[in-house]
Amino acid sequence: MFKKFKKNNDTQNHIEALDLHNMPEHIAIIMDGNGRWAKQRKMPRIKGHYQGMQTIKTITRAASDLGIKYLTLYAFSTENWSRPDEEVNYIMGLPVNFLNTFLPELIEKNVRVETIGFIDELPDKTIQAIEEAKIKTADNTGLTLIFAINYGGRAEIIHGIQTMMKEMRHASEQDIDALTEQHFQKYLMTRDYPDPELLIRTSGEQRISNFLIWQLSYSEFIFNSKFWPDFDEAELKACIKTYQSRQRRFGGL
Ligand code: FPP
Repeated sequence: MFKKFKKNNDTQNHIEALDLHNMPEHIAIIMDGNGRWAKQRKMPRIKGHYQGMQTIKTITRAASDLGIKYLTLYAFSTENWSRPDEEVNYIMGLPVNFLNTFLPELIEKNVRVETIGFIDELPDKTIQAIEEAKIKTADNTGLTLIFAINYGGRAEIIHGIQTMMKEMRHASEQDIDALTEQHFQKYLMTRDYPDPELLIRTSGEQRISNFLIWQLSYSEFIFNSKFWPDFDEAELKACIKTYQSRQRRFGGL
């Protein structure tokens, strides 16, 4: 009983420590370190991915409770296909497992599930689970949980250019000269979301790895040393606290 009270109190203190008027609307996360987490425990890499899926639940709950509007998670890149078949197959099963076990809570928490990436290239079972979750949560108005699956920033931009050029094939030189960033953004997979104010990468690596390369132009980057399976609500809040201490200038003074 005492333990429970203490835990709630701690959580409350953390929330109070955050400036609720300066919360990021959109947080993007590169969930890195699953393999190393497993290796440290002499376990197969897939155990790390399983534990990583559990962390997604923890962080989704935390983000939702904090009133974050968008959370984009890099789950599988266009380059991850080069991993061993066993690992790829296992990761492709995780959205199914995740949604089987977590969709009722997502619905209860008013979370909307969306994806970016080349979803139609995924195995059928993965597509079906994702589509069902999207349909069942389409009208939810709380956190939008966006999985980047079979996603790559360069591929996204090329795909956007291809679509735009097909639409603009009869464009005049004047039309082409008048093209703006705002116009091109409509051809990106993230067209319906604001750019992330905050990017978090776990596991101590300091790279962008082809993630949201257009959208992160002015984001604050925070590199957290925990492996993704060890990342938790307290770490998320600490990252937001650090974000709140940064001065965002967008190229100005
Ligand atoms: C990076 O760690 C992690 C991945 C490439 C896969 C992440 C996938 C999940 C957490 C599960 C996805 C689940 C859903 C619900 C979409 P790494 O394997 O590169 O770790 P390492 O750098 O330590 O080897």
